[in-house]
Amino acid sequence: MDSFVIEGGTRLRGTIRINGSKNAALPIMSAALLANGPCNLQDVPTLSDIQHQMTLLRELGCTVDRQPDGHVKLEVTDEKNSHARYDLVRKMRASICVLGPLLAKRKYARVSMPGGCAIGDRPVDIHLRGLEALGAVIDLDGGDIIARADKLVGTEIFLGGNFGSTVLGTANVMSAATLAQGTTIIESAACEPEVVDLANFLIAMGAKITGHGSPRITIEGVKELHGANHQVIPDRIEAGTFMVASAITNGEVHLQNVRLDHLMAATDKLRAIGVIVEKDNGGATIASIRRLEATSITTQPHPGFPTDLQAQFMALLSIADGNSVITEKIYPDRFLHVAELSRLGAQLHKEGSTVIIHGVKRLIGAPVMASDLRASAALVLAGMAAKGTTTVMRVYHIDRGYEKIELRLNSLGANITRKAQTELEL
Ligand code: EPZ
Repeated sequence: MDSFVIEGGTRLRGTIRINGSKNAALPIMSAALLANGPCNLQDVPTLSDIQHQMTLLRELGCTVDRQPDGHVKLEVTDEKNSHARYDLVRKMRASICVLGPLLAKRKYARVSMPGGCAIGDRPVDIHLRGLEALGAVIDLDGGDIIARADKLVGTEIFLGGNFGSTVLGTANVMSAATLAQGTTIIESAACEPEVVDLANFLIAMGAKITGHGSPRITIEGVKELHGANHQVIPDRIEAGTFMVASAITNGEVHLQNVRLDHLMAATDKLRAIGVIVEKDNGGATIASIRRLEATSITTQPHPGFPTDLQAQFMALLSIADGNSVITEKIYPDRFLHVAELSRLGAQLHKEGSTVIIHGVKRLIGAPVMASDLRASAALVLAGMAAKGTTTVMRVYHIDRGYEKIELRLNSLGANITRKAQTELEL
C-alpha cells in the first residue's frame, strides 16, 4: 500500500490540463452495452475505477481496446453473460450502472447488490423502483439483483428520494428507457453534468432524449441503438480539487480543459472567500494572494455545491480567517476526514451532519490515514498547506479518482513523494 510524503509550504504555480471525468466515463462506458456496433470514447481517464469498469465490461462480452491517449473502443461481441459479480461490484460501486443497459438490451441482468462504503449507506432502491416502473421484474438472490423484462414500456417515473435526485439511478433508468416501447418521463431527474454527458452519448447512438440537464427528462423509445463516438467532459471534481490546491497554497494555477459552468457553486464560494477565479480562453486561472475568509457551505444536488468537493473545501476553510460551517445534505456521514484533518491541527467541531470550522493560521504536518477518495484528496491539500511533513497513508483511495495526482501537483511546484509502504509500517 502506497503512501504520500508531503513537504508542505510551497506555492503552486503553472498550468495543468484537467482530465476527462471519471463519473461521466463510467455510465457512458456501461451504455456502450446498448449499442449494436463499436463505440469510441475520447478522454477516458487512466484510473483504477476505469480499469475495474473495463474488466467488468470484458466479462459481459465487450471487447475493450484502450490507447495511452485516453481513447477507448468498446464493442459488444457476445451477449451470453449478464452477471456483474460481487468480486467486481464490491471494488467499485458504480458497477451498478450496467444494470439498466443490460436489462434493456439483453432482457436480463444479474448485478451484485453494492454494499455500503466509507461515505455511508448507499442504497439503490430508487434505481430498482425506476426500472420496475418500466416493467422489469426484480428479485434478490444470493446478494444479487436479478432484473428481467421481456419488454420495457415507457411511463412517468418519479426518481426523487430523501436526499434529492440520484445520479446513477437517473443514468440507469434513462439508459434503459432508450429501448423501451413508448415515452418515458423521468421527474426529479438528476441534473448533474455527467447525466447530461451520458444523454448526449445516448443521443449520438440514436436515442431520442430531451430535457437532460433539467429535473424532467423525456425519452422516446427507439428499436435499436448504434455505435457512436464521444468526447467525455472534463472532470469537474478534479478541476475543483486543483482550484482548492491553488487557493490553499496561495498559488496561481491555470487550468486547461475546465468547464466553469459545471462549477458555478464552487466558484461562487471561492470568490466569496477571496480567491480570484478568472475565466480565459478554454480555461481558468485560480489565484490567492491573502488569507481567505470564512463562509458557510451546504452540499446539494447539482447545480448546488457538490458533495464530492466538501472535504477539499473543509481543508481550505480550516485555515481561513473566522468560523465556517459545512453541512452535508447528500451523505450525512461523509466526514471521515474530520478526525484526520484534526490531526493536522484543524479546529473542527462536528454536530450531526454539520461541521463548524474555526480557522487556524497554520496546519502542522503529521501522519494521517486516507479513508475514501475525496477525503484523501482533502488530506493531500491540507498537507501541501501544512508546515513540515505530512504522510498520507493508503493512497490507493486517491488513485481511484485522480490520475498520478502527486506528479501533477509536483509539476506545479508541490513536493510529494510516493512511497511503497509495508503492512508492518501501518
Ligand atoms: C454519484 O454517486 C457519484 N458517483 C458520487 O461520486 C457522488 O458523490 C454522488 O453521485 C452524488 O453527487 C458516480 O458518479 C460514479 P446518488 P451515486 O445516487 O449516483 C441516495 C466520488 O467521490 N440514494 O446521486 O451513487 C444516496 O444514498 C463519488 O466520485 C438513495 O437513497 O449517488 C445519497 O444520499 C462518491 N437511493 C443520494 O441519494 C438510491 O437508490 C444521492 O446519491 C440512490 C441514491
